[in-house]
Amino acid sequence: MAHFDPNEVGMRPPPFKHTVYNALVVPRPIGWISTVSPDGDFNLAPFSFFAQVSGSPPCVIYCPNYFKPGTRESKDSLTNAEDTGEFVYNMCTAELLDQMVVTSKHSPRNFDEMKEAGLEGVPCEKVGPPRLKNSPIAMECKHMQTIDMPTPQDGSRAAMVLGHVVQIHVADEVITDEGLIDMRKLRPVGRLGYYDYTIVEPENIFPYKTPDDDRFHGHESKAWDEIQPRVEEFVQE
Ligand SMILES: Cc1cc2nc3c(=O)[nH]c(=O)nc-3n(C[C@H](O)[C@H](O)[C@H](O)COP(=O)(O)O)c2cc1C
Repeated sequence: MAHFDPNEVGMRPPPFKHTVYNALVVPRPIGWISTVSPDGDFNLAPFSFFAQVSGSPPCVIYCPNYFKPGTRESKDSLTNAEDTGEFVYNMCTAELLDQMVVTSKHSPRNFDEMKEAGLEGVPCEKVGPPRLKNSPIAMECKHMQTIDMPTPQDGSRAAMVLGHVVQIHVADEVITDEGLIDMRKLRPVGRLGYYDYTIVEPENIFPYKTPDDDRFHGHESKAWDEIQPRVEEFVQE
């Protein structure tokens, strides 16, 4: 095993040849965040330092780190959320992967990445930024607080933007007759280390019963028989 303190030796001590940190927690969900500036300029960018951090109240975080390259400006997704108090989470699915990557391009604050990527926005109900028309899941959020981590060496901000979910959108096509979200249709994209991604494909989805939770019994029992041999294989490996 390799053992090291990243604060002493950095993120790529031998034998590592590339920064290892982003490969340590995988796969990471991608928060594809739309915001709008006080002047009305739309902004869209992906953040894999993203998480749902509480269910009740429903809260999410995303973490815009460092300056926009070649500038001393914070990323637009941070500035806009703080200036307007609002942002929107959009899910990136397999069909939207190419466009998601296009929207990560560093660009001036008034540059519309949504337009650049050929994406269409639709108005939200409770916040100003649009949500993505082709993303099957979106959450409108009110900015609650920004938590600043210790200042990076370059003097930029390593920020954690915390938001309260005030409206949720789920496309009809991904809702099953049993009233569940159909993960087999969603095919969400996750970020791995380096430049690698993963897609949750139907053949890699399986239920796994926890000892004392039968809330989803109807759903699990339906798929369980067909999937159980596969789960046993996984467990034995
Ligand atoms: C899949 C993916 C995940 C990313 N995750 C982050 C992240 O968590 N934090 C961050 O600061 N930048 C992240 N980036 C880079 C930003 O998307 C990029 O800096 C973007 O230009 C920021 O745009 P903005 O200035 O419009 O906010 C990620 C890029 C990609 C492609």
